[in-house]
Amino acid sequence: MCGIVGFTGTTDAKGILLDGLKRLEYRGYDSAGIAVQNNNVIKMVKASGKVDNLVELVEKNKDIIGNSGIGHTRWATHGVPSDVNAHPHMSTDGKFAIVHNGIIENHAEIKAELIAKGAKFLSDTDTEVIVQLIDYYYKGNLKEALMKATARLNGSYALGVLCADSPNTIYAVKYSNPLIIGVGAGENYFASDITAFINHTKNVIDLDDGEFASLTPDKVTIYDHSGKEIKKEERKITWDVAAAEKSGYEHFMLKEIMEQPAALKATIEPRIRDNKIHFDELDIDIKKYDRILITACGSAYYAGCVGRDIIEKLCKLHVHTEVASELRYRDPIIDEKTLVIVISQSGETADTIAAIKEAKSKNATVLAIVNVVGSAIAKLADYAIYTWAGPEIAVATTKGYTTQVAILAMFAVWAAFELGKINEKEFEKYTEEIKKIPERAQRTLDLNARVKKLADKYYQKRSMFFIGRYLDYAVCLEGSLKLKEISYIHSEAYAAGELKHGTIALIEQGRLVVAVCCYEPLLDKIISNIQQVKARGAEVMALAMEDNKKIFTEADDVLLVPKIYELFMPVIEIIPLQLFAYYVAKNNKCDIDKPKNLAKSVTVE
Ligand code: G6P
Repeated sequence: MCGIVGFTGTTDAKGILLDGLKRLEYRGYDSAGIAVQNNNVIKMVKASGKVDNLVELVEKNKDIIGNSGIGHTRWATHGVPSDVNAHPHMSTDGKFAIVHNGIIENHAEIKAELIAKGAKFLSDTDTEVIVQLIDYYYKGNLKEALMKATARLNGSYALGVLCADSPNTIYAVKYSNPLIIGVGAGENYFASDITAFINHTKNVIDLDDGEFASLTPDKVTIYDHSGKEIKKEERKITWDVAAAEKSGYEHFMLKEIMEQPAALKATIEPRIRDNKIHFDELDIDIKKYDRILITACGSAYYAGCVGRDIIEKLCKLHVHTEVASELRYRDPIIDEKTLVIVISQSGETADTIAAIKEAKSKNATVLAIVNVVGSAIAKLADYAIYTWAGPEIAVATTKGYTTQVAILAMFAVWAAFELGKINEKEFEKYTEEIKKIPERAQRTLDLNARVKKLADKYYQKRSMFFIGRYLDYAVCLEGSLKLKEISYIHSEAYAAGELKHGTIALIEQGRLVVAVCCYEPLLDKIISNIQQVKARGAEVMALAMEDNKKIFTEADDVLLVPKIYELFMPVIEIIPLQLFAYYVAKNNKCDIDKPKNLAKSVTVE
């Protein structure tokens, strides 16, 4: 939620900042802006809307020259998306410019105090209080002013700061929101995410909460919260710039859908040895727990719903799911015998972080399934299992989700063996099935052209239903969300057997019902449900396992998915639904990678 970037070097900063912002746009796209520094003067330009609007303005503004600068792309929280509320924000005297990702909870109180002291505010943002506060405390020593100002702030912040008195220097402060330093040769960077500078350097330093840094072209100096200089290790990013670019695909979403076989392979294969699943990162005695609670947000939550069904089935253990934004308000029954599994692609989601804190306060063990190495959630949890999906840029998750489901399936098998619920032979048999997932995912992508045709047929529908039973229902939740978030078409996921208890009133002539029928033990049940909606005029597009002949006489259109053991089908069967959402959104001319009102990582409550 909001992306920030900073650069200092010997070349003009604006191109690098704008390029970085474009790569960070998945974090928010309500407005964008940059500020650069030259000869002790800060120049700023900002515009509401996407980064492209800013690029146009920057091209017209010949004043924007400087070798160091900061940039921001916004997901509005305080104040409407507008030019004036766009970041950077400057102090009244023009000495400081800042960019901010996060929320300042006590901004109103600080603002009133500063206004009483004569400060003038231009925007409705919480961020402006930070820059005015820094200005207020600045008496020639910026480090001191930064420390004094941030000590006053309640909330979360990753900050980038420019000071007119400090040529070629940019400052970065991290507290509760992501911030990474990029160490280059004769140039240095900071950003909310590595993707912003991966085309310039792969050497990074992770800042921890409370730390701050000053960057010049030749030097990165890091301080702890007390202002003491500290040494931190650099790490090298293993993925390549191509991973953060579209590589010829029209959208990141399509590219990421196509990357799923590789992402699944990278996630699954290193954890299989001697035909058994190994989680070397997990040093827990699973027998200690009498229940599992899975919590997450959005698609990660829906991955958790699939995981719940698989774990419960194989481990014979109580598994509950709860959306992370609700968890802490329900006074949930959690104790030291509860294993709390949190799931997050970004590792930053504020509600999920709050759920971890709630679980830890009740002495639970927290295991995180997370994609971003070193992210807040990975650090907060007792154990982190990484999905190796690589960077995911499209706001709507695809490979993030499937790799999460794959890990949950592997965890279920591993835990079932640890608990003595399956024997060694069964352990090996399930592992063998799990190993097939990447190849099956690859074959599922062969449905691309057929799904596109069906999207051409159905894209004008204004409302749809996704129905399924048991695991298929859990997959419907994600299939329906995918469609909603990128095509803005209303859809609902329904447990197929529940439809007749009210919602069937909405089934009418021409209503599209997507029936997910991959869980074959319940095939006859879902076929009855298909007949119920067909009798009321619905058109049915069915998704079933290959070799399913029965389905052809029931549905108007059929998509057949390669077979795998039924409990692991969800990893595969979501892929055609992702493609369907993609092509429906494309036909409706939607901004697929950046759907309206959304942001990829939601760092506010
Ligand atoms: C936001 C995104 C969703 C995502 C959810 C959880 O709502 O728009 O696509 O599933 O956050 O994100 P996480 O990074 O925690 O998986």
